[in-house]
Amino acid sequence: MAKKKAAPRKPALLTVRGITRKFAERTILDGVDLDVRAGEAVGVVGPNGSGKSTLLRCIVGADEADAGESTLAGTVLDERLPEIRADLAIVMDDIDFFPDLSVVEHLDLVARAHSQADAEEVVNVVLAEVGLMEVSGQLPSTLSSGQRRRLALASAFVRPRKLLVLDEPEARLDVEGVTWLGDKLVAEKKAGRAVLLVSHDPGLVERVCDRVVRLGPAPEPSDVD
Ligand SMILES: Nc1ncnc2c1ncn2[C@@H]1O[C@H](COP(=O)(O)OP(=O)(O)OP(=O)(O)O)[C@@H](O)[C@H]1O
Ligand SMILES: [Mg+2]
Repeated sequence: MAKKKAAPRKPALLTVRGITRKFAERTILDGVDLDVRAGEAVGVVGPNGSGKSTLLRCIVGADEADAGESTLAGTVLDERLPEIRADLAIVMDDIDFFPDLSVVEHLDLVARAHSQADAEEVVNVVLAEVGLMEVSGQLPSTLSSGQRRRLALASAFVRPRKLLVLDEPEARLDVEGVTWLGDKLVAEKKAGRAVLLVSHDPGLVERVCDRVVRLGPAPEPSDVD
């Protein structure tokens, strides 16, 4: 009987090749390669200072790598390009909110600016999902730190996206919030999106990620099971 041919692997949505970044004489990243396909999540882990955030910034074009390149669906990835911004949702540490827009106004603006169909409906669904309905009329300065983090995540989830890039999205979330985040990221994969996740939460990485890239020194042999 003829052998069934394996289905061809989908080309990667995000490709990262040879990213190298030095600060003064210190090489923080030395030729990092990774691929993320649609429907897949890749984790980036490593100790404090190992270069995880630097890698994400170099990948999205917020920092300039000394060498290497990343592409999104074949286009060189630069978050300043409109066609890239249409497909890319990023949650990093440095997110700013308009100080005089309420939670719901901010999300509504983000959704409409990114041409989200049914912006009002999507904003209401995401507000409920992230548990910010009760504070939807408040200004960002009046939110707790966890609520601000939830607003940052909500800002990514109200817009159309093919690739989600997240730097420690679990930071400042309560236990329930981390569980919700895990569910949400698994659902993102099921919806055919790609996820690149930096995290210090092994449970979240284990639950969500198909593969893991480890930065920094290799673990001591005694640390390996
Ligand atoms: N602009 C910069 N100038 C000089 N050094 C920098 C700069 N940005 C980052 N670094 C250094 O690069 C290294 C990696 O920093 P990075 O923020 O990428 O680490 P990280 O893995 O994200 O750590 P954490 O887990 O604490 O978030 C650190 O030693 C940091 O001091
Ligand atoms: Mg970091």
